[in-house]
Amino acid sequence: MNKTLLLLQLIIFQSFISLGQEKKIWDETEAQKTERMQWWTDARFGMFIHWGLYSQPARHEWVMRKEKITVEDYKKYFEIFNPDLYDPSEWARKAKEAGMKYAVITTKHHEGFTLFDSEYTDYKITNTPYGKDAIQEWVDAFRKEGLKIGFYYSLLDWHHPEYAIDRNHPLSPEDEADYKKLNKDRDMNIYREYLKNQVKEILTSYGKIDLLWLDYSFPNPHGKFRDDWGSVELMKMVRELQPEIIVNDRADLKDYAGGWDFTTPEQFKADKWIEYNGKRVPWETCQTFSGSWGYYRDEYTWKNTRQLLTLLIESVSKGGNVLLNVGPTGRGKFDPRVDQALNAMGEWMKFNSRSIYECTQAPEGFVAPPNTILTYNPKNNRLYIHLLDYPLENFLLKDYKDKIKYAQFLHDASEIKITEPYSHWLVKQSFGENDINLKLPVTKPEIEIPVIEVFLKD
Ligand code: GLC
Repeated sequence: MNKTLLLLQLIIFQSFISLGQEKKIWDETEAQKTERMQWWTDARFGMFIHWGLYSQPARHEWVMRKEKITVEDYKKYFEIFNPDLYDPSEWARKAKEAGMKYAVITTKHHEGFTLFDSEYTDYKITNTPYGKDAIQEWVDAFRKEGLKIGFYYSLLDWHHPEYAIDRNHPLSPEDEADYKKLNKDRDMNIYREYLKNQVKEILTSYGKIDLLWLDYSFPNPHGKFRDDWGSVELMKMVRELQPEIIVNDRADLKDYAGGWDFTTPEQFKADKWIEYNGKRVPWETCQTFSGSWGYYRDEYTWKNTRQLLTLLIESVSKGGNVLLNVGPTGRGKFDPRVDQALNAMGEWMKFNSRSIYECTQAPEGFVAPPNTILTYNPKNNRLYIHLLDYPLENFLLKDYKDKIKYAQFLHDASEIKITEPYSHWLVKQSFGENDINLKLPVTKPEIEIPVIEVFLKD
Protein backbone atom coordinates (compact mmCIF):
# COMPACT_ATOMS: atom_id res chain seq x y z
CA MET A 1 0.00 0.00 0.00
CA ASN A 2 2.73 2.41 1.00
CA LYS A 3 4.72 1.48 -2.03
CA THR A 4 1.83 2.17 -4.42
CA LEU A 5 1.18 5.49 -2.80
CA LEU A 6 4.81 6.46 -3.13
CA LEU A 7 4.84 5.47 -6.77
CA LEU A 8 1.71 7.47 -7.42
CA GLN A 9 3.21 10.52 -5.77
CA LEU A 10 6.32 10.15 -7.85
CA ILE A 11 4.32 9.98 -11.07
CA ILE A 12 2.29 13.07 -10.13
CA PHE A 13 5.47 14.94 -9.19
CA GLN A 14 7.16 14.01 -12.47
CA SER A 15 4.26 15.02 -14.65
CA PHE A 16 4.08 18.30 -12.71
CA ILE A 17 7.71 18.99 -13.51
CA SER A 18 7.36 18.12 -17.18
CA LEU A 19 4.24 20.28 -17.45
CA GLY A 20 6.20 23.31 -16.39
CA GLN A 21 9.02 22.66 -18.83
CA GLU A 22 8.70 22.99 -22.55
CA LYS A 23 10.76 20.40 -24.30
CA LYS A 24 13.44 22.23 -26.17
CA ILE A 25 16.19 21.54 -28.65
CA TRP A 26 17.07 25.19 -28.91
CA ASP A 27 15.77 28.70 -28.36
CA GLU A 28 14.27 30.71 -31.16
CA THR A 29 11.35 33.12 -31.49
CA GLU A 30 8.60 32.65 -34.09
CA ALA A 31 9.93 35.66 -35.98
CA GLN A 32 13.46 34.28 -36.04
CA LYS A 33 12.19 30.98 -37.36
CA THR A 34 10.18 32.67 -40.10
CA GLU A 35 13.25 34.60 -41.13
CA ARG A 36 15.49 31.52 -41.08
CA MET A 37 13.02 29.72 -43.33
CA GLN A 38 12.35 32.63 -45.66
CA TRP A 39 14.41 31.39 -48.63
CA TRP A 40 12.59 28.07 -48.45
CA THR A 41 9.06 29.47 -48.20
CA ASP A 42 9.85 31.84 -51.06
CA ALA A 43 11.31 29.04 -53.18
CA ARG A 44 8.24 26.76 -53.19
CA PHE A 45 9.70 24.26 -55.64
CA GLY A 46 12.60 21.86 -55.18
CA MET A 47 14.11 18.67 -56.61
CA PHE A 48 14.38 15.45 -54.64
CA ILE A 49 16.99 12.97 -55.87
CA HIS A 50 16.93 9.30 -54.91
CA TRP A 51 20.07 7.65 -56.12
CA GLY A 52 21.92 4.64 -54.84
CA LEU A 53 22.72 0.99 -55.55
CA TYR A 54 18.98 0.34 -55.99
CA SER A 55 19.13 2.26 -59.27
CA GLN A 56 20.66 -0.87 -60.81
CA PRO A 57 17.99 -3.48 -60.04
CA ALA A 58 15.70 -0.61 -61.10
CA ARG A 59 12.76 -2.09 -59.20
CA HIS A 60 12.15 0.46 -56.42
CA GLU A 61 14.49 1.77 -53.72
CA TRP A 62 12.90 -0.73 -51.32
CA VAL A 63 13.89 -3.67 -53.53
CA MET A 64 16.14 -5.10 -50.82
CA ARG A 65 13.22 -5.26 -48.41
CA LYS A 66 10.56 -6.20 -50.96
CA GLU A 67 12.54 -9.14 -52.32
CA LYS A 68 14.14 -9.93 -48.96
CA ILE A 69 17.64 -9.75 -50.39
CA THR A 70 20.45 -10.46 -47.94
CA VAL A 71 23.41 -8.13 -47.47
CA GLU A 72 25.56 -10.80 -49.08
CA ASP A 73 23.41 -11.01 -52.22
CA TYR A 74 22.92 -7.26 -52.48
CA LYS A 75 26.67 -6.84 -52.63
CA LYS A 76 26.68 -7.54 -56.36
CA TYR A 77 25.23 -4.08 -56.96
CA PHE A 78 27.97 -2.52 -54.86
CA GLU A 79 30.66 -4.33 -56.79
CA ILE A 80 29.57 -3.01 -60.17
CA PHE A 81 28.31 0.48 -59.30
CA ASN A 82 29.88 2.76 -61.89
CA PRO A 83 27.73 5.67 -63.07
CA ASP A 84 30.00 6.61 -65.94
CA LEU A 85 27.58 9.20 -67.33
CA TYR A 86 27.12 11.04 -64.03
CA ASP A 87 27.33 14.76 -64.66
CA PRO A 88 25.82 16.68 -61.75
CA SER A 89 26.19 20.00 -63.54
CA GLU A 90 23.70 18.68 -66.10
CA TRP A 91 21.31 17.70 -63.26
CA ALA A 92 21.69 21.11 -61.68
CA ARG A 93 21.01 22.90 -64.95
CA LYS A 94 17.89 20.81 -65.51
CA ALA A 95 16.62 21.53 -62.00
CA LYS A 96 17.19 25.22 -62.45
CA GLU A 97 15.56 25.35 -65.86
CA ALA A 98 12.51 23.58 -64.46
CA GLY A 99 12.19 26.44 -61.98
CA MET A 100 13.42 24.59 -58.92
CA LYS A 101 15.30 26.59 -56.30
CA TYR A 102 16.69 23.86 -54.06
CA ALA A 103 17.56 20.19 -54.19
CA VAL A 104 17.77 17.34 -51.72
CA ILE A 105 19.85 14.23 -52.46
CA THR A 106 19.98 10.85 -50.70
CA THR A 107 23.43 10.77 -49.09
CA LYS A 108 22.37 7.36 -47.74
CA HIS A 109 19.09 5.53 -48.24
CA HIS A 110 17.67 2.58 -46.28
CA GLU A 111 19.99 0.14 -48.07
CA GLY A 112 22.83 1.71 -46.05
CA PHE A 113 25.16 2.57 -48.95
CA THR A 114 26.67 6.06 -48.82
CA LEU A 115 27.16 8.29 -51.84
CA PHE A 116 29.75 10.17 -49.79
CA ASP A 117 33.20 9.20 -48.62
CA SER A 118 32.47 8.23 -45.02
CA GLU A 119 35.16 7.48 -42.49
CA TYR A 120 32.86 5.11 -40.64
CA THR A 121 32.05 2.51 -43.28
CA ASP A 122 33.51 0.64 -46.23
CA TYR A 123 30.10 0.47 -47.81
CA LYS A 124 30.55 3.71 -49.71
CA ILE A 125 30.84 5.00 -53.23
CA THR A 126 34.61 5.55 -53.06
CA ASN A 127 35.00 1.77 -52.73
CA THR A 128 32.96 1.02 -55.86
CA PRO A 129 34.40 1.02 -59.38
CA TYR A 130 33.23 4.64 -59.63
CA GLY A 131 35.69 5.56 -56.91
CA LYS A 132 34.76 9.22 -56.33
CA ASP A 133 32.69 11.10 -53.74
CA ALA A 134 29.49 11.77 -55.71
CA ILE A 135 28.18 14.11 -53.01
CA GLN A 136 31.18 16.41 -53.27
CA GLU A 137 30.69 16.67 -57.04
CA TRP A 138 26.96 17.17 -56.57
CA VAL A 139 27.33 19.93 -54.00
CA ASP A 140 29.83 21.80 -56.18
CA ALA A 141 27.59 21.60 -59.23
CA PHE A 142 24.33 22.56 -57.53
CA ARG A 143 25.88 25.39 -55.60
CA LYS A 144 27.35 26.74 -58.82
CA GLU A 145 23.86 26.98 -60.31
CA GLY A 146 22.71 28.91 -57.25
CA LEU A 147 20.53 26.13 -55.90
CA LYS A 148 20.22 25.57 -52.18
CA ILE A 149 21.79 22.36 -50.89
CA GLY A 150 19.78 19.70 -49.06
CA PHE A 151 20.85 16.32 -47.71
CA TYR A 152 18.55 13.36 -47.18
CA TYR A 153 19.87 10.84 -44.68
CA SER A 154 18.13 7.57 -43.89
CA LEU A 155 17.79 6.74 -40.21
CA LEU A 156 17.03 3.18 -41.27
CA ASP A 157 19.97 1.04 -42.30
CA TRP A 158 19.58 -2.45 -43.73
CA HIS A 159 23.29 -3.01 -44.10
CA HIS A 160 24.68 -2.12 -40.68
CA PRO A 161 25.27 -5.30 -38.64
CA GLU A 162 24.23 -3.67 -35.34
CA TYR A 163 20.98 -2.20 -36.63
CA ALA A 164 18.18 -4.07 -34.87
CA ILE A 165 15.83 -5.94 -37.14
CA ASP A 166 12.40 -4.32 -37.18
CA ARG A 167 9.26 -4.89 -39.15
CA ASN A 168 10.60 -2.92 -42.15
CA HIS A 169 13.88 -4.77 -42.32
CA PRO A 170 14.62 -7.25 -45.14
CA LEU A 171 15.25 -9.90 -42.49
CA SER A 172 12.04 -9.26 -40.54
CA PRO A 173 10.72 -12.62 -39.33
CA GLU A 174 7.25 -14.05 -39.90
CA ASP A 175 6.96 -15.04 -36.29
CA GLU A 176 6.78 -12.29 -33.63
CA ALA A 177 8.75 -14.38 -31.22
CA ASP A 178 11.78 -14.44 -33.50
CA TYR A 179 12.67 -10.75 -33.19
CA LYS A 180 14.36 -11.29 -29.86
CA LYS A 181 16.40 -14.18 -31.14
CA LEU A 182 17.46 -12.36 -34.30
CA ASN A 183 18.46 -9.23 -32.41
CA LYS A 184 20.28 -10.77 -29.51
CA ASP A 185 23.71 -9.85 -30.89
CA ARG A 186 22.75 -6.51 -32.38
CA ASP A 187 23.60 -3.43 -30.37
CA MET A 188 21.67 -0.29 -31.28
CA ASN A 189 24.02 1.82 -29.14
CA ILE A 190 26.70 1.20 -31.70
CA TYR A 191 24.40 1.97 -34.60
CA ARG A 192 23.21 5.17 -32.89
CA GLU A 193 26.77 6.35 -32.60
CA TYR A 194 27.40 5.46 -36.22
CA LEU A 195 24.43 7.40 -37.46
CA LYS A 196 25.39 10.42 -35.38
CA ASN A 197 28.92 10.30 -36.74
CA GLN A 198 27.70 10.12 -40.30
CA VAL A 199 25.27 13.00 -39.89
CA LYS A 200 28.14 14.95 -38.41
CA GLU A 201 30.27 14.06 -41.43
CA ILE A 202 27.76 15.28 -43.99
CA LEU A 203 27.22 18.47 -42.01
CA THR A 204 30.91 19.26 -41.65
CA SER A 205 32.53 18.11 -44.89
CA TYR A 206 30.69 20.15 -47.53
CA GLY A 207 30.39 23.70 -46.22
CA LYS A 208 27.04 25.29 -45.57
CA ILE A 209 24.13 22.86 -45.82
CA ASP A 210 20.78 24.55 -46.22
CA LEU A 211 18.47 21.66 -45.46
CA LEU A 212 18.47 18.25 -43.77
CA TRP A 213 15.89 15.60 -44.54
CA LEU A 214 15.95 12.73 -42.06
CA ASP A 215 13.90 9.64 -42.90
CA TYR A 216 12.05 8.22 -40.88
CA SER A 217 10.37 7.02 -37.65
CA PHE A 218 7.70 4.34 -37.52
CA PRO A 219 5.59 3.29 -34.56
CA ASN A 220 5.46 -0.05 -32.84
CA PRO A 221 5.02 -2.98 -33.10
CA HIS A 222 8.65 -3.60 -33.93
CA GLY A 223 9.19 -0.03 -35.06
CA LYS A 224 11.74 2.64 -34.28
CA PHE A 225 11.46 6.05 -32.60
CA ARG A 226 13.40 8.94 -31.16
CA ASP A 227 15.10 6.78 -28.55
CA ASP A 228 16.34 4.35 -31.15
CA TRP A 229 17.86 7.17 -33.21
CA GLY A 230 18.96 9.29 -30.27
CA SER A 231 16.97 12.05 -31.95
CA VAL A 232 17.23 14.66 -29.20
CA GLU A 233 21.02 14.51 -29.07
CA LEU A 234 21.20 14.23 -32.83
CA MET A 235 19.10 17.31 -33.43
CA LYS A 236 21.03 19.34 -30.87
CA MET A 237 24.19 18.50 -32.76
CA VAL A 238 22.59 19.38 -36.11
CA ARG A 239 21.53 22.81 -34.82
CA GLU A 240 24.95 23.42 -33.37
CA LEU A 241 26.83 22.47 -36.50
CA GLN A 242 24.56 24.30 -38.93
CA PRO A 243 22.52 26.92 -37.04
CA GLU A 244 20.72 28.13 -40.16
CA ILE A 245 19.76 24.72 -41.47
CA ILE A 246 16.11 23.79 -42.08
CA VAL A 247 15.08 20.32 -40.90
CA ASN A 248 12.09 18.09 -41.69
CA ASP A 249 9.90 16.31 -39.17
CA ARG A 250 10.70 12.61 -39.36
CA ALA A 251 13.03 12.15 -36.39
CA ASP A 252 10.03 11.84 -34.05
CA LEU A 253 10.53 15.17 -32.28
CA LYS A 254 7.12 16.67 -32.90
CA ASP A 255 6.73 17.87 -29.31
CA TYR A 256 10.16 19.52 -29.13
CA ALA A 257 10.73 23.20 -29.87
CA GLY A 258 13.39 23.17 -32.56
CA GLY A 259 12.84 19.46 -33.18
CA TRP A 260 11.54 20.13 -36.68
CA ASP A 261 10.87 23.03 -39.01
CA PHE A 262 8.44 21.71 -41.59
CA THR A 263 6.17 18.75 -42.08
CA THR A 264 6.34 16.34 -45.01
CA PRO A 265 3.11 14.84 -46.34
CA GLU A 266 4.25 12.24 -48.81
CA GLN A 267 2.49 11.66 -52.15
CA PHE A 268 -0.38 13.65 -50.72
CA LYS A 269 -2.33 16.61 -51.99
CA ALA A 270 -3.33 18.80 -49.05
CA ASP A 271 -6.83 20.24 -49.22
CA LYS A 272 -5.99 23.01 -46.78
CA TRP A 273 -3.02 24.61 -45.05
CA ILE A 274 -1.67 21.99 -42.65
CA GLU A 275 -1.94 22.83 -38.95
CA TYR A 276 -0.31 21.57 -35.77
CA ASN A 277 -1.81 22.43 -32.38
CA GLY A 278 -4.22 24.78 -34.12
CA LYS A 279 -1.45 26.72 -35.88
CA ARG A 280 -0.52 26.77 -39.54
CA VAL A 281 2.86 25.15 -40.11
CA PRO A 282 5.36 25.19 -42.97
CA TRP A 283 4.86 22.11 -45.12
CA GLU A 284 6.31 20.43 -48.16
CA THR A 285 4.78 17.58 -50.09
CA CYS A 286 7.30 15.21 -51.64
CA GLN A 287 6.10 13.55 -54.80
CA THR A 288 7.28 11.13 -57.43
CA PHE A 289 6.67 11.35 -61.17
CA SER A 290 5.63 7.72 -61.00
CA GLY A 291 5.15 5.50 -57.97
CA SER A 292 8.77 4.89 -57.05
CA TRP A 293 11.53 7.15 -55.66
CA GLY A 294 14.44 5.18 -56.99
CA TYR A 295 14.77 4.55 -60.75
CA TYR A 296 12.12 2.00 -61.75
CA ARG A 297 12.46 0.90 -65.33
CA ASP A 298 9.11 -0.84 -65.70
CA GLU A 299 6.84 1.58 -63.84
CA TYR A 300 4.44 3.33 -66.20
CA THR A 301 2.00 5.29 -64.07
CA TRP A 302 3.54 8.70 -64.68
CA LYS A 303 1.80 11.96 -63.86
CA ASN A 304 1.34 14.29 -66.81
CA THR A 305 2.45 17.92 -67.04
CA ARG A 306 -0.94 19.26 -66.18
CA GLN A 307 -1.18 17.13 -63.05
CA LEU A 308 2.29 18.19 -61.98
CA LEU A 309 1.60 21.87 -62.52
CA THR A 310 -1.73 21.63 -60.74
CA LEU A 311 0.00 19.96 -57.82
CA LEU A 312 2.52 22.77 -57.58
CA ILE A 313 -0.06 25.55 -57.90
CA GLU A 314 -2.42 23.90 -55.41
CA SER A 315 0.32 23.40 -52.86
CA VAL A 316 1.35 27.05 -53.06
CA SER A 317 -2.30 28.07 -52.79
CA LYS A 318 -2.35 26.35 -49.39
CA GLY A 319 0.96 27.70 -48.18
CA GLY A 320 3.07 24.66 -49.10
CA ASN A 321 6.11 23.57 -51.12
CA VAL A 322 6.62 20.75 -53.60
CA LEU A 323 9.70 18.54 -53.64
CA LEU A 324 9.53 16.64 -56.90
CA ASN A 325 11.58 13.49 -57.13
CA VAL A 326 13.95 12.24 -59.79
CA GLY A 327 15.46 8.75 -59.65
CA PRO A 328 18.55 8.78 -61.89
CA THR A 329 19.69 5.54 -63.57
CA GLY A 330 22.64 3.40 -62.56
CA ARG A 331 24.70 5.20 -65.21
CA GLY A 332 23.82 8.57 -63.73
CA LYS A 333 21.30 9.90 -66.24
CA PHE A 334 17.75 11.16 -65.85
CA ASP A 335 15.04 9.02 -67.41
CA PRO A 336 13.85 10.61 -70.71
CA ARG A 337 10.37 10.83 -69.19
CA VAL A 338 11.85 12.99 -66.44
CA ASP A 339 13.53 15.26 -68.97
CA GLN A 340 10.29 15.68 -70.84
CA ALA A 341 8.34 16.54 -67.69
CA LEU A 342 10.98 18.93 -66.39
CA ASN A 343 11.12 20.71 -69.75
CA ALA A 344 7.37 21.15 -69.82
CA MET A 345 7.28 22.48 -66.27
CA GLY A 346 10.20 24.77 -67.03
CA GLU A 347 8.41 26.13 -70.07
CA TRP A 348 5.42 27.03 -67.90
CA MET A 349 7.57 28.41 -65.10
CA LYS A 350 9.53 30.63 -67.49
CA PHE A 351 6.38 32.69 -68.04
CA ASN A 352 4.39 32.05 -64.89
CA SER A 353 6.75 31.57 -61.95
CA ARG A 354 5.66 34.93 -60.56
CA SER A 355 2.51 33.17 -59.36
CA ILE A 356 4.66 30.61 -57.49
CA TYR A 357 7.76 32.21 -55.97
CA GLU A 358 7.11 34.20 -52.80
CA CYS A 359 3.44 33.34 -53.10
CA THR A 360 1.04 31.81 -50.65
CA GLN A 361 -2.63 31.36 -49.81
CA ALA A 362 -4.94 34.19 -50.89
CA PRO A 363 -6.19 36.46 -48.11
CA GLU A 364 -9.56 35.86 -46.63
CA GLY A 365 -12.43 37.26 -48.68
CA PHE A 366 -11.12 36.09 -52.06
CA VAL A 367 -13.20 33.21 -53.30
CA ALA A 368 -11.74 31.20 -56.17
CA PRO A 369 -14.09 31.20 -59.20
CA PRO A 370 -15.05 27.69 -60.42
CA ASN A 371 -12.18 25.68 -61.94
CA THR A 372 -9.50 28.04 -60.77
CA ILE A 373 -6.81 28.10 -58.11
CA LEU A 374 -5.70 31.29 -56.39
CA THR A 375 -2.25 32.21 -55.15
CA TYR A 376 -1.17 35.52 -53.69
CA ASN A 377 2.03 37.49 -53.34
CA PRO A 378 1.88 39.58 -50.15
CA LYS A 379 4.98 41.57 -51.12
CA ASN A 380 3.45 43.19 -54.19
CA ASN A 381 -0.20 42.62 -53.26
CA ARG A 382 -1.07 40.71 -56.42
CA LEU A 383 -3.49 37.87 -56.81
CA TYR A 384 -2.98 35.08 -59.34
CA ILE A 385 -5.93 33.28 -60.87
CA HIS A 386 -4.95 29.98 -62.49
CA LEU A 387 -7.42 28.92 -65.16
CA LEU A 388 -7.66 25.14 -65.09
CA ASP A 389 -10.56 25.18 -67.49
CA TYR A 390 -10.43 28.11 -69.90
CA PRO A 391 -13.65 30.16 -69.64
CA LEU A 392 -15.60 31.51 -72.56
CA GLU A 393 -15.07 35.26 -72.81
CA ASN A 394 -16.91 36.53 -69.76
CA PHE A 395 -15.33 35.61 -66.50
CA LEU A 396 -17.19 36.66 -63.40
CA LEU A 397 -15.35 37.55 -60.21
CA LYS A 398 -17.79 37.50 -57.34
CA ASP A 399 -17.25 40.21 -54.76
CA TYR A 400 -13.99 41.52 -56.25
CA LYS A 401 -15.11 44.93 -57.54
CA ASP A 402 -13.84 47.03 -54.67
CA LYS A 403 -10.57 45.10 -54.46
CA ILE A 404 -9.30 45.03 -58.02
CA LYS A 405 -7.25 47.69 -59.79
CA TYR A 406 -5.90 46.11 -62.97
CA ALA A 407 -5.72 42.69 -64.64
CA GLN A 408 -3.45 41.11 -67.20
CA PHE A 409 -2.30 37.74 -68.46
CA LEU A 410 0.85 36.83 -66.63
CA HIS A 411 2.63 35.18 -69.56
CA ASP A 412 2.56 38.18 -71.91
CA ALA A 413 1.47 41.14 -69.74
CA SER A 414 -1.48 41.81 -72.03
CA GLU A 415 -4.31 43.73 -70.44
CA ILE A 416 -7.56 42.01 -69.61
CA LYS A 417 -10.38 44.50 -69.58
CA ILE A 418 -12.46 44.89 -66.46
CA THR A 419 -16.14 45.44 -67.22
CA GLU A 420 -19.48 45.36 -65.48
CA PRO A 421 -20.90 41.83 -65.48
CA TYR A 422 -22.44 41.26 -68.87
CA SER A 423 -25.89 39.83 -68.69
CA HIS A 424 -29.21 39.07 -70.15
CA TRP A 425 -31.98 41.11 -68.51
CA LEU A 426 -33.38 38.11 -66.69
CA VAL A 427 -30.02 36.97 -65.40
CA LYS A 428 -28.94 40.35 -64.14
CA GLN A 429 -30.53 40.12 -60.74
CA SER A 430 -28.29 37.21 -59.80
CA PHE A 431 -25.21 39.49 -59.75
CA GLY A 432 -24.12 41.10 -56.55
CA GLU A 433 -23.26 44.82 -56.24
CA ASN A 434 -19.62 43.99 -55.83
CA ASP A 435 -19.27 41.54 -58.72
CA ILE A 436 -17.09 42.35 -61.69
CA ASN A 437 -16.32 40.82 -65.06
CA LEU A 438 -13.07 40.12 -66.91
CA LYS A 439 -13.28 40.14 -70.68
CA LEU A 440 -11.10 37.29 -71.90
CA PRO A 441 -10.06 36.56 -75.47
CA VAL A 442 -11.99 33.68 -77.00
CA THR A 443 -8.88 31.78 -77.92
CA LYS A 444 -7.05 30.16 -75.07
CA PRO A 445 -3.44 31.34 -74.92
CA GLU A 446 -0.82 28.71 -75.78
CA ILE A 447 -0.11 28.06 -72.12
CA GLU A 448 -0.93 24.81 -70.35
CA ILE A 449 -2.57 26.62 -67.44
CA PRO A 450 -3.02 30.36 -68.18
CA VAL A 451 -2.69 32.75 -65.26
CA ILE A 452 -4.41 36.09 -64.71
CA GLU A 453 -2.38 38.52 -62.65
CA VAL A 454 -4.62 40.85 -60.68
CA PHE A 455 -3.25 44.06 -59.16
CA LEU A 456 -5.15 44.68 -55.97
CA LYS A 457 -6.09 47.98 -54.39
CA ASP A 458 -4.07 48.82 -51.28
C1 GLC B 1 9.53 6.93 -47.48
C2 GLC B 1 10.30 5.79 -48.08
C3 GLC B 1 11.41 6.19 -48.89
C4 GLC B 1 11.43 7.55 -49.51
C5 GLC B 1 10.73 8.58 -48.67
C6 GLC B 1 10.54 9.89 -49.35
O1 GLC B 1 9.83 7.19 -46.19
O2 GLC B 1 10.75 4.88 -47.13
O3 GLC B 1 11.79 5.21 -49.77
O4 GLC B 1 12.73 7.92 -49.55
O5 GLC B 1 9.57 8.12 -48.19
O6 GLC B 1 9.65 10.69 -48.67
